[in-house]
Amino acid sequence: MQADIDQVLIDRQAIARRVDELARQIVADLEPDLSRGEADLTLVPILTGSIIFVADLIRHMPLRMRISVMSITSYPGKATSSRGASVEAALTRLPESLAGHHVLLIDDILDSGNTLRLARQIVTERQPDSFRTCVLLRKKRDAAMATPCDYVAFDIPDQFVVGYGLDFDDLYRNLPEICTLRQEVAAGATENGRC
Ligand code: IMP
Ligand code: MG
Repeated sequence: MQADIDQVLIDRQAIARRVDELARQIVADLEPDLSRGEADLTLVPILTGSIIFVADLIRHMPLRMRISVMSITSYPGKATSSRGASVEAALTRLPESLAGHHVLLIDDILDSGNTLRLARQIVTERQPDSFRTCVLLRKKRDAAMATPCDYVAFDIPDQFVVGYGLDFDDLYRNLPEICTLRQEVAAGATENGRC
């Protein structure tokens, strides 16, 4: 697996520092809303790429919270650009109504913006008391920068990245750093069993 990596863009210490800092900021922003009424905090992680980010983030958020996952796919298999976002109903567990919930939607990366736009539409139709969005990474490209998002841990160059939850062909999610792949790997030339 290590042989397929080109560059480490963000190392594990930098990720840990920033996740802690972002969690504090989110908690500080949510606390006034949560103390005002009876509404619950509900996190909506988008599967599968956000799982490691969410797992780390919530351990720095000492708040009463529920988690309702949503699955949205747009990069099937070895694709390295969006094929249009669609919801996987079987892996989505959203309550019919989100009235009485403050929602924090969490995704791994903001690229074309299709995933966040679709998720926003689905969640806001269920009328949460408040709605915020958070991503680990945002690519420095016009479509991503133009998509509203409340919390961004890191802005990165417009490159295909893997690790810390992000995949290529469902591999590399377990890398502890955020990395780029060697060009021949990203072009689909992986040998079977290498990862
Ligand atoms: P968007 O819908 O184009 O904004 O892309 C968001 C989704 O595409 C993310 O949730 C990821 O699953 C996937 N994605 C986008 N860019 C990358 C990347 O560089 N590496 C791995 N997955 C990516
Ligand atoms: Mg995703």
